[in-house]
Amino acid sequence: MAKAFNKSFTQQEAIDQESIALAMRVLKSGRLHRYNTLDDELSQVSLLEQEYALYQDAHYCLACASGGYALNIALRAAGLKSNEAVLTNMYTLAPVPGAIAGAGGHAIFIEVDNNLLLDLEDLANKAQSSGARFLLLSHMRGHIVDMENLMGVVEKYNLTLIEDCAHTMGAKWNNTRSGNFGLAGCFSTQTYKHINSGEGGLITTDDAEFMARCIMMSGSYMLYERHGAAPDPDAFKKIRLQTPNLSGRMDNLRAAILRPQINKLENNIRRWNERYALVEAKLRQVKNIVVPDRKAKEFYVGSSIQFRIPNVSKQQARNFIEDNRQLGVEVKWFGGDNPSGFTSNHKSWQYVERQQLDRSDRILSGLFDLRLPLTFSKQDCGLLADIIADCAEKVTTNLHE
Ligand SMILES: Cc1ncc(COP(=O)(O)O)c(C=O)c1O
Repeated sequence: MAKAFNKSFTQQEAIDQESIALAMRVLKSGRLHRYNTLDDELSQVSLLEQEYALYQDAHYCLACASGGYALNIALRAAGLKSNEAVLTNMYTLAPVPGAIAGAGGHAIFIEVDNNLLLDLEDLANKAQSSGARFLLLSHMRGHIVDMENLMGVVEKYNLTLIEDCAHTMGAKWNNTRSGNFGLAGCFSTQTYKHINSGEGGLITTDDAEFMARCIMMSGSYMLYERHGAAPDPDAFKKIRLQTPNLSGRMDNLRAAILRPQINKLENNIRRWNERYALVEAKLRQVKNIVVPDRKAKEFYVGSSIQFRIPNVSKQQARNFIEDNRQLGVEVKWFGGDNPSGFTSNHKSWQYVERQQLDRSDRILSGLFDLRLPLTFSKQDCGLLADIIADCAEKVTTNLHE
């Protein structure tokens, strides 16, 4: 049996000196609000928007209060009407159905497959039967569905695609950045994501009028000309008095913390992927464990890893989690009756009409998840994979699905 693990699964790396120095400048200036600028000054938020738009290869970028807020206003700015249907993954986290509800829509969940990807046949069927106009595609835990095939369905049913890239900042499908396939990409900069400002969100798009609406909604006090990566003032003329202010701006302090992190993102992705590869290789050798397959076109960011123990019973799953916990490894489970921490499923989103999702329920009943923070060394990752492997050996289940 491997020795116990003793590091925290929620400890991120410290914010580095460059971010701290920039944040100190903001604090000393007292100008924390994004529109509180000197004559020709571009605020830290505007600079972040410019720099992220460049990184993302998008025309426009808006920084805002959170990833969930970004999803909410993206849906509204895309034209979602009250009580209108939004197609979305069944396998996602609570902010996604929450954003749909917050924007006044109702979620229709699409099944996922064994590799945790959207089931495109179910998507096509439900797009047809519901007549929905919107797809909020959540690249949950960084798993990217075949985007060429997905876009085929999107085009056939004339869907407006918004990508939830909370877990795919920096990821690509066939060399196109996740977030650039549809109308908009929405990102989170909450502490456990790929860049960390505690809370925060980003919306990117190439569509000028959509971005103008997002900016108005975020609470621009008609100061939209002071944005870093905004469309021309002309784009605002038609919509400026028709768009409600739903204040959710980002402030200069958080933007200052984030800006230097963009330059470090590619290197951090490399570090995450080294850790992921190491854990994945070990888990793939365990008889009871199935790790999702990933396509060659998918360039993912391995900041967490998911694996299945097919046909595991609820009691076996609980024992497996407890055995890991006793050895210091925090494994999350998507099949529990009650939401625990970050893991919930459609049965706990009771504000959404109940839906029959047998296939995904079966998959999630044996689905486990763990974070791989960069505070874990490669040696730590080896140890935690050995612990999981030992605990999984104890689960006697019939792997045949
Ligand atoms: C899949 C997914 N989408 C969206 C969000 C929303 O991000 P935020 O926490 O910044 O609102 C999260 C955050 O946990 C998430 O995990």
